[in-house]
Amino acid sequence: MNEPSLAQNLQAIRDEALAALAKAAGAAALQELRVRYLGRKSRLTELVRSIGAQPAEARPELGKLGNKIKREIEAEFEKTAAALAERAREGRARANRIDVTLPGVRREIGRLHPVTSVLNEIVAVFQGMGFSLETGPEAETEYYNFDALNIPRDHPARDMWDTLYLAPGICLRTHTSPVQIRTMEKQRPPVRMICAGKTFRADTPDASHSPMFHQLEGLFVDERVSLSDLKGVLGVFVRRLFGEKTRLRFRPSFFPFTEPSAEVDISCLVCGGTGCPVCSKRGWLEILGAGMVNPAVFEAVGYDPVKYTGFAFGMGIERIAILRYGIEDIRLFFENDLRFLKQF
Ligand code: PHE
Repeated sequence: MNEPSLAQNLQAIRDEALAALAKAAGAAALQELRVRYLGRKSRLTELVRSIGAQPAEARPELGKLGNKIKREIEAEFEKTAAALAERAREGRARANRIDVTLPGVRREIGRLHPVTSVLNEIVAVFQGMGFSLETGPEAETEYYNFDALNIPRDHPARDMWDTLYLAPGICLRTHTSPVQIRTMEKQRPPVRMICAGKTFRADTPDASHSPMFHQLEGLFVDERVSLSDLKGVLGVFVRRLFGEKTRLRFRPSFFPFTEPSAEVDISCLVCGGTGCPVCSKRGWLEILGAGMVNPAVFEAVGYDPVKYTGFAFGMGIERIAILRYGIEDIRLFFENDLRFLKQF
């Protein structure tokens, strides 16, 4: 058998290159083939170079053939590269395809904290009765937190509040009552205000105590304001918040800044008053403290205690939310556990 001729070798290289290209799977494989079949050290380059060693009359034909085969292989490379690019593009398009029949991704939106929403609701009820919303600082002087509220230094009544002091004479307010004083100082009667915000006490946290909680305070001062006005306003409030059937009861109590003072109960929201575990068989739930403004408080702000009378009340917002939603532990409000917060 004869050795294959140079022309045959060139044809064979072309056939091999085209077959390999047909199987190229990606850009990397293609680059490898380019080096192998068209590179400076490729068999094709070698063969084309060897044409110079052929007899002079054979060289032109072989030269043409060599060029033609090189161009063919190059053209095939271009085609394959384009085809591979197109395939890759299609693959990406397929991967990114949007299936419009799939269910959407639900976006979580935030919601109001239960304390905030109960607070907003209570504020709206009192604003509806003409009370204006006032604010005051959380860090208070002893004067506003105690003295002006008829709780002089060294008076045993100060023990009613376990106070957190920031500095001598400065404490975190133990109740929202100092805002009564601040409001009366800048306003003449009639006064019809509420105030809501954080209050602080040196209590160890347990199911019913938290060192920080929220209060809502109310104050109504005018000529001839009576206890029945207090009962009327609170009656509207409890019926709006807890339902039309809710009843109200006043029990005598003591606060230095009100005289007389009362603890206010509502008929049990669960049993309606017949007695059940929620109300400890009493039929009533305590919701706030209230009373007629003590004349000593009017004197502290320069109101004439003969001309003016008034009532005040204060409630814990968490307490209201606990009763409203049947929550068992006040600490749940402040642990930021989404499983709890999502329920409101
Ligand atoms: N400030 C009282 C407390 O925190 C509540 C209260 C307010 C009572 C207004 C009567 C009148 O205990």
